[in-house]
Amino acid sequence: MTDTIISNARLVNDGTVSEVDVRIQDGRIAQVDGMIQAGPKTVVYDAQGKHLLPGLIDDQVHFREPGGTHKGSIATESRAALAGGITSYMEMPNVNPPTVSIDKLHEKYQLAEKKSYANYAFYLGATNDNVDQIRALAPGDACGVKVFMGASTGNMLVDDPAALEQIFSNSPLPVVTHCEDTPTILANEQRQREQYGEDVPVKNHPVIRSADACFLSSSLAVQLAQKHHTRLHVLHLTTGRELELFSNLPVEQKHITVEVCAHHLFFDDRDYACQQGLIKCNPAIKSAKDRTALLKGVVDNYVDVLATDHAPHTWEEKHQTYFNIPSGLPLVQHALLSLLEHYHRGIFTLPLIVEKSAHAPAKIFGVVDRGYVAEGYWADLVLVDLHRPYTVSRQNILYKCGWSPFEGYTFKSSVVATWVNGELGYTDGKVADNIRGKRLQLSNHQPR
Ligand code: DOR
Repeated sequence: MTDTIISNARLVNDGTVSEVDVRIQDGRIAQVDGMIQAGPKTVVYDAQGKHLLPGLIDDQVHFREPGGTHKGSIATESRAALAGGITSYMEMPNVNPPTVSIDKLHEKYQLAEKKSYANYAFYLGATNDNVDQIRALAPGDACGVKVFMGASTGNMLVDDPAALEQIFSNSPLPVVTHCEDTPTILANEQRQREQYGEDVPVKNHPVIRSADACFLSSSLAVQLAQKHHTRLHVLHLTTGRELELFSNLPVEQKHITVEVCAHHLFFDDRDYACQQGLIKCNPAIKSAKDRTALLKGVVDNYVDVLATDHAPHTWEEKHQTYFNIPSGLPLVQHALLSLLEHYHRGIFTLPLIVEKSAHAPAKIFGVVDRGYVAEGYWADLVLVDLHRPYTVSRQNILYKCGWSPFEGYTFKSSVVATWVNGELGYTDGKVADNIRGKRLQLSNHQPR
């Protein structure tokens, strides 16, 4: 039996920060206590007073496998995730071929079992005509059903009103939505094309992918969920106005929840001048006012989950003319560090970051025995040093695409170590190459 003690940690968990030791046995947390005695065979890791958090559960990533492995793969991106303190992820269906059948889901699980460094689950993608697959989902098959209610990377738009009714009324799993109204976007694109031709300035991305397009589509998702009592999770909210569609009840009492992503809290439309196509993403990064409203929405509990929407594209692709630049940016390695910047600015507390990036996704998706540092739970942990700055550079970026929108930026904190299922997966800037994650066990199935 392996026996490890992480000693002298400041544990951030379940709303508090406390000084503790944590004992790990056979991959799980065996004891959390003021001081734990080491036995003769115990491996002791001295945390030296640094902050220990439950490993993050990222409920929205695009790892590009199968079909886009020149941009990223399950292995490369989950490896980068560990370096960023993300120990579990839920991956999206807009791969090639898309994950729109239960067979395709199982193929992905087989790939991940061999290759994934972090723990994993996959979404089934909805289409205008696969409600039979959605109905047939068995417990544990997927973390949720992804509905592109706005067109984005991949060709997965669900725009048939009858299909949306069917999906929202039949899904036995949480429905997660990308909300942007495509007709509004197309009309805005047309106006920009008339003015600029193909060379639309990237800073106009939020004019095309407008706040109105977001509001129209998220309102529709909320209406459908209210009508059919669907467990709805709206992904990557980007505007202050949309927050009025949601409540700030405790997450356990909501059947409609909301996610905001790290980049929408970090960048705003002034950053297009410098970042250009690198921060082109869907939904678009909006105004400074929206960013401030989203930060407040997190603090006031309208926002339930903080995630990444990690979406790697190559450097070359990101430097084309506007319409050819694919949307999305790589984030899993740096999202936690970017969230901790809001702690340093006095906006977020550490327990708030942990609630939104580990506890809440575990609750919403019914992740079994993860998301908290609790006796009997899997030992997924991340140790952060709040006072050791970390500069992002080409030399330390682990994404397959090799770039980051944070390149050259110095975060105030760094990730010191990450444990997955009790094994030290990342330390001293290096990922242990023998680490493999486990499939997430999920209790989120409600036959309808
Ligand atoms: O910016 C985005 N990129 N938004 C999405 O919805 C998809 C993602 C991707 O897969 O590239």
